[in-house]
Amino acid sequence: MYKSIPERCAARVLSGGPIVTVSSQSSDGVADIMTAAWNCPFDSNIVQVTLDLGHTTSENIKNTAKFVVGIPAKEQIAEIMKAGSVHGRDVGDKFDSLSIPYELSEKLGLKVLRDQLAYIECELFDFDIFAKSGICLGKAVSVYVQDKAWNDAEECFLDGAKHTLHHVKDNVFLCGHSIIEG
Ligand SMILES: Cc1cc2nc3c(=O)[nH]c(=O)nc-3n(C[C@H](O)[C@H](O)[C@H](O)COP(=O)(O)O)c2cc1C
Repeated sequence: MYKSIPERCAARVLSGGPIVTVSSQSSDGVADIMTAAWNCPFDSNIVQVTLDLGHTTSENIKNTAKFVVGIPAKEQIAEIMKAGSVHGRDVGDKFDSLSIPYELSEKLGLKVLRDQLAYIECELFDFDIFAKSGICLGKAVSVYVQDKAWNDAEECFLDGAKHTLHHVKDNVFLCGHSIIEG
């Protein structure tokens, strides 16, 4: 037997994918990071994040065509709530101003949240779609996963979704079978 829930919950039902961070840099070199719940695969090597065009991240991506999508671990709720709470244009380098720990991504050299489960370095796949709609398609130029977290044989996270965060609302996330709050 099914029960009907409101249409606004469509995204909640679909929300199998983990919350992500999006790292970028302005054309004059100021690093930024934001949090994005709305994301999904688009093709085997192309990821989609839906970005408000008013975000500093969107301006950066339009100007540089480069960004990194990171998959944070369940211990990183505090950092992703910080990254999702202010605009880079108001505070400058968010890693420095909000004390968000970082490392540099391997190929693009962008600041990313340190010790995430994985990150995907991306080039903007379609400028026009993004500028018109905020649908940001990123073609992977490289993908890095924590070696301790990855199952090479099955090509998936070793523990499934036990360590990834799946956004519900506000600072509430699903992690494995539990609801946790930041
Ligand atoms: C849990 C969470 C999920 C979010 N998901 C999205 C999202 O999917 N798309 C989006 O445009 N903004 C999303 N945001 C908002 C941005 O992360 C936030 O506005 C951020 O401050 C933008 O930073 P920027 O202006 O430096 O790019 C989310 C924020 C939080 C806390």
